[in-house]
Amino acid sequence: MAKNFYITTPIYYPSAKPHMGHAYSSIIADFFARFKKIDGFDVNFLTGTDEHGLKIQRAAEKKGVDTLKFCDEISKTFRDLSKTLNLTNTDFIRTTENRHKKSVQNLWEKLEQNDNIYLSKYSGWYSVSDEAFYSEEEIEEFDGNKLAKLSKSPVEWVDEESYFFKLSKWEKPLLDYYEKNPDFIAPKARKNEVISFVKSGLKDLSISRKSFSWGIPVPGNDEHVIYVWLDALTNYISALNYPETKDEIYEKYWPADIHLIGKDILRFHAIYWPAFLLAAKIPLPKKVYGHGWILSGDEKMSKSKGNILDPIEIIDQYGLDPLRYYLIKEVSFGNDGNISQTRLEDCINSDLANNFGNLCQRVTAFAIKNCEGKIPSNIEFNNDDLKILDKFKNNLDLIRDKIDKLDLNFYIEFIVNSLFETNKYFNDQEPWNKKDDIKRLNTIVYTTLEIVRKISFMLYPIIPQSSLNALKIFSIKENEINYTSISNNEYLLNGNTINKIDILFKKIEKKND
Ligand code: MSP
Repeated sequence: MAKNFYITTPIYYPSAKPHMGHAYSSIIADFFARFKKIDGFDVNFLTGTDEHGLKIQRAAEKKGVDTLKFCDEISKTFRDLSKTLNLTNTDFIRTTENRHKKSVQNLWEKLEQNDNIYLSKYSGWYSVSDEAFYSEEEIEEFDGNKLAKLSKSPVEWVDEESYFFKLSKWEKPLLDYYEKNPDFIAPKARKNEVISFVKSGLKDLSISRKSFSWGIPVPGNDEHVIYVWLDALTNYISALNYPETKDEIYEKYWPADIHLIGKDILRFHAIYWPAFLLAAKIPLPKKVYGHGWILSGDEKMSKSKGNILDPIEIIDQYGLDPLRYYLIKEVSFGNDGNISQTRLEDCINSDLANNFGNLCQRVTAFAIKNCEGKIPSNIEFNNDDLKILDKFKNNLDLIRDKIDKLDLNFYIEFIVNSLFETNKYFNDQEPWNKKDDIKRLNTIVYTTLEIVRKISFMLYPIIPQSSLNALKIFSIKENEINYTSISNNEYLLNGNTINKIDILFKKIEKKND
């Protein structure tokens, strides 16, 4: 059976250059994309930019530039960031592209044909920063300003003719769907929030705006532009050539396996999007996962709060893989996390330089000196060796299962523990004291190298370049990395050359060390 996997990031607003929060969503998505790839899946990984709506129109006006030119420029910084982050995205969609416009208008027509749209008038609150409509109960007053309670972003009053989507009629079908598909929304706490919101009653949703023009025109009435969220959400299928549902790429990848998003945009993905799809009779994505926020102090990092940490600056200072490792390990997946340079430096020194880098150097240096620089032959595993080797084989399916449940924390803990155990194994076995028992010496070296190989394979989705650098020890190339092979305890072929490699991670000198 073909194993296909489709993962998406949110498409980012090109209203300002990318920050650490955006980098976080993308790096996590890349982790899953890479893992699935080495586990034999045919992966489609989509990211891109969300370019319509009042937020972008105003940002361009403020700069005094043409809106599309403004988008071209900032969208490019997001595209460049994808490369800087070493993402394996297979496509980058911009909502200003024609392929996308066609799809959105087609979806609109489907919704209209299925009697889900009517023309009326919207009078209520709107947050341009969130591009969201809020009810009176969702608003609070602070220092004389009206704010959305959830995001603390300012709201303004809107009073204009608008098309509405009959969201209220999907309340019951959505609740049924959540019940029949308990894994659709994750993590669990977020699912409960969504369910109670839906249970509190859904009102019909305004899905067009008339007072500005930066958007996709409503088919048949170009005085209106389509609501930016209906436009943006469609990217997940427009990139698969929707409405060409017989198209190979659509057939292969829809429904998506995971929409990975930040928890701030859960309502759009777990309520509006599935309701639009149900109404258009399009299958629903398999999972929506709302991860936590990168905080700055106690607050969400965001442009409007002016507390941005620039991923490029961190990468310039420490390198990409340390940042990827840090974000994946230290921000407990699903929860909010604070990013601190001290913790990042600790991670580099203890996990990456000491536990991984140093292990690679020690065992290769020892093998080059004592095993003629070749993968040793004449080996015989004892219980100590098998205990540490078999851990991978015994957990092969469990790890896979955890990944399917998006339990990233389990994956990284498994690696960190294995690194500790391997360092301990190498020290306890003292191969340097086994020079008169060559078979034992060879076996310890083989076992340690084999574990370095397994761990490097597992590290590939997290720190791809460093994993490849480590695998140069064995001349293993990227396309040879295969998850299932971590269960093979005799993957390394006797007699193959062991290569000396450059230092993988430089230790950071800390001021108070
Ligand atoms: N354009 C919409 C998404 C449309 S998807 C059909 C949008 N864009 S955004 O640029 O404001 O944010 C997109 C995503 O960036 C968030 O959902 C989240 O995944 C990520 N983050 C933005 N700030 C973040 C943090 N401070 N921390 C972690 N991720 C955050 O919303």
